[in-house]
Amino acid sequence: MDKSHANKPFLRTLDGEVTSKPPLWMMRQAGRYLPEYRAIRATAPSFLDFCYTPRLATEATLQPIRRFGFDAAIMFSDILVIPDALGQAVSFEQGEGPRLEPISDAAGLAALRDTLSLDRLSSVFETIDRVKTALPKETALIGFCGAPWTVASYMIAGRGTPDQGPARLFSYLHPELFQKLIDLLVTASVDYLTRQFSAGVEAVQIFDSWAGVLPAGEFERWSLAPIKAIVEGVRASVPDARIIAFPRGAGSRLALFAKLPGVTAIGLDTSIDPAWAAREIQPHKPVQGNLDPLALVAGGPALDRAIDLIHGAFAGKPYIFNLGHGIVPETPLEHVEHLVQRVRGA
Ligand code: CP3
Repeated sequence: MDKSHANKPFLRTLDGEVTSKPPLWMMRQAGRYLPEYRAIRATAPSFLDFCYTPRLATEATLQPIRRFGFDAAIMFSDILVIPDALGQAVSFEQGEGPRLEPISDAAGLAALRDTLSLDRLSSVFETIDRVKTALPKETALIGFCGAPWTVASYMIAGRGTPDQGPARLFSYLHPELFQKLIDLLVTASVDYLTRQFSAGVEAVQIFDSWAGVLPAGEFERWSLAPIKAIVEGVRASVPDARIIAFPRGAGSRLALFAKLPGVTAIGLDTSIDPAWAAREIQPHKPVQGNLDPLALVAGGPALDRAIDLIHGAFAGKPYIFNLGHGIVPETPLEHVEHLVQRVRGA
């Protein structure tokens, strides 16, 4: 990877520099809160078709950059392209979220491919290539994947659930089978992220959106260890890879990630107290987060208070301003504009 970061504040921060203003981007920054996203989304027959069409995915990636000038773009795709590229049918029902053919036994696991279908994913790499040529020179490009536990939880349940109960139960009842699935996802994720770097991304984020439902005795095995294995695997071919780990809901267990060699920065979810993270996490690594997406919906004094609390805790050491989870469709555009101005101190 090209380690030069010219003048990209997002990359300089990941590399440990303190910039005059924190760099800023938002999880799910391309999405339904943007009218221009809804307009192009309506032209594709399905969400996966949309993700796999480079012209549309490139446009979706660039839309929030044009409108708000964020410091980083995140390639437009979804974490569930991995099960799709492993041969498990994935679809998105309007207003209902993802649907997969649930894996319930050894036969379901055996039906998966051993390696990713690169045919299926070639459009993702083409999107990265197109975005790179169109981005402003100060804007970084982020790639991503879902962490094995989070992706597996959708593969087992076949849909989103309140607490990923089906995958937790499966992991207790069939630990060896579940380990096989996790190992397959580790290998696939290393391959996928390495190819994203080759295609031109400058950092990646690993989304473990459901890490928080794992009880103490299971957390290290299913969240920490697979992410550690991915980090080691990616760094074997991209030694200076910048990798952000986002184990949502990990709470005090974030400290385990903060000490993991090879993890560049830690994403903080909404529940994390910035004062705690400034003490326990930031001395080890740059942090990213963690505004409540609903404070951004609310706007007004509640939003200003929340922004100032984060800035007050993290300023002076490397940090990236972000939400604590994805922006929601109801978010008023003026509130995002206000956020950008306040974080940049305008
Ligand atoms: O702008 C960006 O952040 C890049 C694109 C991106 C999407 N999904 C687009 C998307 C990223 C990084 C993701 C990650 C993702 N996808 C996660 C991890 C982060 C998190 O939110 O916890 C998860 C768990 C998924 C799986 C997923 N994809 C679900 C559960 C849903 C349905 C819920 C919803 O918001 O509708 C999706 C669909 C999805 N992925 C949409 C977008 C913009 C909305 C679908 C649409 O526009 O029709």
